[in-house]
Amino acid sequence: MSESKIALVTGANKGIGYEIATGLGALGYRVGVGARDEARRKTAVEKLRAAGVDAFGVPLDVTSDQSITDAAELMERQAGRLDALVNNAGISGEMGPGWVQDPTTLDLDVVRTVVETNVIGVIRVTNAMLPLLRRSTSPRIVNVSSAVASLTRQADPDIEIGPVMAAYSPSKSFLNAVTVQYARQLADTNILINAACPGLVATDFTGFHGPRTPEQGAATAIRLATLPDGGPTGSFFEDDGVIPW
Ligand SMILES: NC(=O)c1ccc[n+]([C@@H]2O[C@H](COP(=O)([O-])OP(=O)(O)OC[C@H]3O[C@@H](n4cnc5c(N)ncnc54)[C@H](OP(=O)(O)O)[C@@H]3O)[C@@H](O)[C@H]2O)c1
Repeated sequence: MSESKIALVTGANKGIGYEIATGLGALGYRVGVGARDEARRKTAVEKLRAAGVDAFGVPLDVTSDQSITDAAELMERQAGRLDALVNNAGISGEMGPGWVQDPTTLDLDVVRTVVETNVIGVIRVTNAMLPLLRRSTSPRIVNVSSAVASLTRQADPDIEIGPVMAAYSPSKSFLNAVTVQYARQLADTNILINAACPGLVATDFTGFHGPRTPEQGAATAIRLATLPDGGPTGSFFEDDGVIPW
């Protein structure tokens, strides 16, 4: 079994996930680069290795049972254990004009696709990796969420939360709710599980609009993936602290 701590980051071939992999690698973690596309995965692994990260590729599509079963087997062979799982892979789903998802005209297939990736995908990956996480002395799970999932903020007319996104925002609220259920179920274990918001980050996801860099967006997830024992669990964080549900 490996001496280094082991991490798996989903959707690590680009954007915030790539920077989470970079940051964990810089902290000495061996990093599984979870990515669905072979060419994009290989390129990311090569880039990470060139930057000094002990990275290896993990073929992984969070919407496929078989792919995630295979990914867990690969992690077992590569590392035999998992110390940090970062569920970062996520999609916005098709957006209408003005980057809006209007609930009154929403294509139900968009909702299904977004929930399948952003929520069911996270449960699928987490449960497949739990046996490996349970072998760690300090297992951590981070679900990359979004402040637009905060019902408290969305219900406050004085807070500017961005456009109506009737598929994406509720998918992350659902993810937050699932995160709390895991924290409750795992309360008697050493597993800490939290949700992280990266802020508004310039990536493919946002059409490269947004004031924050992917590196800045990765910071909270990295902090939560490396929490000390006794740290928080079942909570929702951004750089400035806790986000209200
Ligand atoms: N950017 C922001 O402002 C922002 C704000 C709040 C929250 N977030 C969240 O941050 C996370 C990362 O977003 P990002 O901005 O870095 O977006 P991004 O650049 O579009 O990266 C998304 C990553 O997820 C992967 N992915 C999508 N569907 C997948 C699937 N079915 N299986 C495996 N991987 C899949 C993508 O892989 P491919 O390259 O193969 O498509 C890519 O690696 C997401 O969960 C997003 O909701 C982002």
